[in-house]
Amino acid sequence: MINRTRRLRKNQAIRNMVAETKLHVEDLIYPIFIEEGNDINKPIESMPGIHRYSLDQLANELDQVIELKIPAILLFGIPSKKDDCGSSTWDDQGIIQQSIRWIKKHYPSLYIITDVCFCEYTDHGHCGVIKDEQVDNDLTLVNIQKQALSHAQAGADMIAPSGMMDGTIQAIRSILDEHQFVNLPIMSYAVKYASAYYGPFRDAADSSPSFGDRNAYQLNPANRNEGILRAAIDASEGADILMVKPALSYLDMIRDLKNEFQTPLACYHVSGEYAMIKAAAEKGWLNEEKIILETHLSMKRAGADLIITYFAKDIARLLKRD
Ligand code: PBG
Ligand code: ZN
Repeated sequence: MINRTRRLRKNQAIRNMVAETKLHVEDLIYPIFIEEGNDINKPIESMPGIHRYSLDQLANELDQVIELKIPAILLFGIPSKKDDCGSSTWDDQGIIQQSIRWIKKHYPSLYIITDVCFCEYTDHGHCGVIKDEQVDNDLTLVNIQKQALSHAQAGADMIAPSGMMDGTIQAIRSILDEHQFVNLPIMSYAVKYASAYYGPFRDAADSSPSFGDRNAYQLNPANRNEGILRAAIDASEGADILMVKPALSYLDMIRDLKNEFQTPLACYHVSGEYAMIKAAAEKGWLNEEKIILETHLSMKRAGADLIITYFAKDIARLLKRD
């Protein structure tokens, strides 16, 4: 007798019935780049389909997000002025603060997550305060607190610190709690690798370091235990959601974290991952729709509950059609 598993793959109906993993639009978070100024609708060359918008040009994009029932957006700001510490990040009139208020007013049902970092706002492009040519961890924490509190006061629904400073979650949790934001959740970019896959994002957000690299704060791609350790520290400091970033080259980390921690798990399918699919599809070398679904399904299978992805609108459309 042959042991047969093909019986349950015979047709689409049974394949769907026994599918272990499914993509849902509810799991998707769509990143949006908002630039200070007016009349800006600039395509990002290395990320076809993704644009930088000024607030006055954002409505069409957000209408689509609502229409497609994507529940959440992740905001990145591009300020008109930079300085050595990124002080506009905690300015009540800063680009993110203005954006949160505007979006909440016109799209009250959208769940707004804000990226908390400094690299788009500093003239040197690093993720914090520079001292002796290094990003100083503890000086940066003070500014992270100011930025996170300011986002909270402007009405953000969730805070997502991405700078990889030690003690970030504890610092944000304590300042939020002190100011009665006890119910505002934190999604930690806990397991964020120093990755060349961020290349297109740095063009998009004007956030390349002007000297050196981020290897002294982001994780070494060689390390697995260190990633789990970082996640454990952030979980113990009170992170509500943990994140792995990038996604595809780190599916093992997604699975490790899923097995180890009970908090919801997010992963970030980053700009370079998006660009690779777009480039191959443009050349006609891959079937874009199939690749998008397979790729995102693999993150779910690895253990991701939530996926931050520039393909969110495409996926929502594909799921609607099926
Ligand atoms: C900045 C930040 C980066 C991304 C999100 N927040 C890039 C970096 O660390 O340089 C990457 C996102 C992407 O590549 O899509 N702290
Ligand atoms: Zn940064």
